[in-house]
Amino acid sequence: MTNTPTYISLLNAISVTETSAGEIFENWADSVTDKKLEKTLRLIEMREKEHGIAFAKRMLELGYEVRPDGSDPLEELRKIASSNRSELSKLKALKYNKAPASPDIFDGMFSDKTIDPVTGGLLGRYIAEERDTGKLLRSECQRLQDKEKKAKERLKAKAAK
Ligand SMILES: [Fe+2]
Repeated sequence: MTNTPTYISLLNAISVTETSAGEIFENWADSVTDKKLEKTLRLIEMREKEHGIAFAKRMLELGYEVRPDGSDPLEELRKIASSNRSELSKLKALKYNKAPASPDIFDGMFSDKTIDPVTGGLLGRYIAEERDTGKLLRSECQRLQDKEKKAKERLKAKAAK
């Protein structure tokens, strides 16, 4: 009988969280009118869903099944993304107008030295994609901020005429 790998609970948590995030980003993408933002949110939706499945698949390969614990790990994201705030206000509430935290939540994931190479490969790709997702959302936030600023300036110029 082999021992349970120490990182099974990490894989479980990632799979549950990513599946939940996939659903949130799908609903968010469905509701936006800005085409460029929709494309970004769609890519993120696909990444999150794929992460949810890839980690569940890896757990099965190791002989384990995903077990959701019944809590909503992304309650805050769900609340903000589905609110009727403007898209810019949502991105700001999610702190995408700020530089990323350093160290971030992913920095400690490789501290477990027993992670097998296949799981390590998957984890590495996941981390890189998550960080890239953050970069994409910060860039969308900046673009919408610039757009809003320009619109305000145009209004001001019009009023001054
Ligand atoms: Fe994610």
